Amino acid sequence: MSNLDTVRVGLVGAGRIAKVHAAAYERIARGSLVSVTDPIAAAATSLAAHYGMTVSPSLEQMLADDSIDAVLLATPNSLHADQLIQALEAGKHVFCQKPISLTLPDADRVVAAASASDRVVQFGFMLRFTPPMPQLKSRIVAGELGPLIAAQAAVFGWEPSNDWFYDPKNGGGVILDTLVHFGDLVLWMFGPAEHVSTEGGAYKLEGAKKFGSPDNAVVTVRHASGVISSMYVSWTAGRGNFTMDVYGNDGSASVDLVHSQALNLHISDRAREESGWLYPDLVWDYGYAGEQQYFVDRILGREDGARAASASEARDALALMLAAQQSLDEKRTVEL
Ligand SMILES: NC(=O)c1ccc[n+]([C@@H]2O[C@H](COP(=O)([O-])OP(=O)(O)OC[C@H]3O[C@@H](n4cnc5c(N)ncnc54)[C@H](O)[C@@H]3O)[C@@H](O)[C@H]2O)c1
Repeated sequence: MSNLDTVRVGLVGAGRIAKVHAAAYERIARGSLVSVTDPIAAAATSLAAHYGMTVSPSLEQMLADDSIDAVLLATPNSLHADQLIQALEAGKHVFCQKPISLTLPDADRVVAAASASDRVVQFGFMLRFTPPMPQLKSRIVAGELGPLIAAQAAVFGWEPSNDWFYDPKNGGGVILDTLVHFGDLVLWMFGPAEHVSTEGGAYKLEGAKKFGSPDNAVVTVRHASGVISSMYVSWTAGRGNFTMDVYGNDGSASVDLVHSQALNLHISDRAREESGWLYPDLVWDYGYAGEQQYFVDRILGREDGARAASASEARDALALMLAAQQSLDEKRTVEL
């Protein structure tokens, strides 16, 4: 059990997602962002002024500050593994944006460091906290849709904020960076993957063409459970959204987060009170505050962490995305 009353978090990175996290922390009970660090001093200063944080000159100085309990890593993907391990070694709890890393050896180092530490480690898979995704997962687990057949998902991400996203060594491209949200979700909902095949390409964005990484892709996964999940990811749709349809022998469910956060559920058993179309969750919420409240509450010993992706689950989501990227590069189905 923690002896903290509140959790003081340092924000590492002051770019696009850092602003989303800073806004989300205004709604968090028992936790606050107290300091920010970014090599672009103007970015850190401006965010600090807006949200009442101090500026730390470097990650090292932030980690040496005993008044900071946890750090939130909102930095380029290639930095995640080293910064996460460095923060754990300094005794901090860590919230790390996805993906866990860009390579499996780096992911394995994180898994080892996280399992050797008593600190909370959580990853930025906010869809696990976005209504109605948890409800969809629990209805699947309860068998309400019957034996599952297939799922179709789409991630419409915004055009990257910086060129590093396209670079295989820094961002990893649209599959590793953005589709990994659904990589985690389909493993969470349908279990381990058996094989994966990918089509895609650099259709529009100059950065993607320059680095030879895709800006649009369709990834199809066969799970060991027999479920087929097909996922479309785009950086060129000009809007953000997540959609997902799940089909089973006895029912289907669909989610379209922008349209509404309703879980559109249809169950074929007419005798059931809940048959037909249900609209149970109508509050718009992308899950950014939910995931941070959960992180803070885990540190305070109020949550057990079961709902969040563990380091090894984040590693599995990366492994699936690496296989998907390999399938695209090598024009073949890749076994996991
Ligand atoms: N969960 C989501 O929905 C979501 C959405 C967007 C981005 N992300 C993730 O968030 C992370 C950042 O993405 P972004 O869009 O904010 O990128 P960004 O380029 O806008 O911001 C990254 C910031 O990190 C800073 N930085 C670089 N090196 C640093 C270091 N050593 N220490 C501290 N700061 C450093 C950069 O100067 C920059 O300001 C990525 O991992 C990305 O995948 C997640």
